[in-house]
Amino acid sequence: MKNIDETVKSRHSVRRYKEDAIPKKLVDNLNKIIDNYNKESGLNIQLKTEDKDTFASYKLHYGKIYDCANYIALIGNKKEKHLEEIVGYYGQKIVLEAQEMGLNTCWVGAGYSKSALNVKVLPGQKIVCVIAIGYGLHNGKPRPSKTYDDVSVTKDAPDWYKKGIEYALLAPTAINQQKFKFELLENNIVSVKAGIGPFSKVDLGIVKYHFELGAGTSNFTWK
Ligand SMILES: Cc1cc2nc3c(=O)[nH]c(=O)nc-3n(C[C@H](O)[C@H](O)[C@H](O)COP(=O)(O)O)c2cc1C
Repeated sequence: MKNIDETVKSRHSVRRYKEDAIPKKLVDNLNKIIDNYNKESGLNIQLKTEDKDTFASYKLHYGKIYDCANYIALIGNKKEKHLEEIVGYYGQKIVLEAQEMGLNTCWVGAGYSKSALNVKVLPGQKIVCVIAIGYGLHNGKPRPSKTYDDVSVTKDAPDWYKKGIEYALLAPTAINQQKFKFELLENNIVSVKAGIGPFSKVDLGIVKYHFELGAGTSNFTWK
């Protein structure tokens, strides 16, 4: 990533989109990134463009995405014990790459019609959630956030850990719940727990990726 700080700070959920299609060059780029992450993670992530039904046919107002014709479906093996967390981790990698390409996104766990998705789900796999992607009517805006003390058991900590928490607090979570709790243990081992709430295990993967970006993976190991 070119400018991690700017990318992490400028990303906000966007729920209203322009009609403009994603240019072929960017679609090819995204597909290449997705292929690599699928190989690395064992997921079956798929990008679909110019396919309006998935968001348009969702009838409720709350959590709805407007005029977005593109989505990334996050699919994986039902038997994978950590499927939700892996989906969160790799999905957020794609979200931040998309942000760098000048695209807007929104994670969508509820506001879409699963039956309208145009993707291949192999036997033994399931769709965990999707990500809306395209050119937003705007770039979104900062939202209320919990504080360092709310989400970290450890109060006095080195700068790398604090930077990790700062980035974790900028990560998207379902209904902005931010239920995660971090702790710095001996020997630079970091523990993070998901908390209870809808999609909190997906949130966990997202937040772990943000923490890695802020803290630097050479400074610690996950518990
Ligand atoms: C797993 C997950 C599921 C989400 N599902 C929806 C959804 O169904 N509809 C919606 O409008 N936003 C959804 N969101 C977006 C969150 O509401 C948003 O990330 C949160 O309010 C924080 O705002 P931010 O992304 O601008 O930082 C979801 C986010 C995550 C991480």
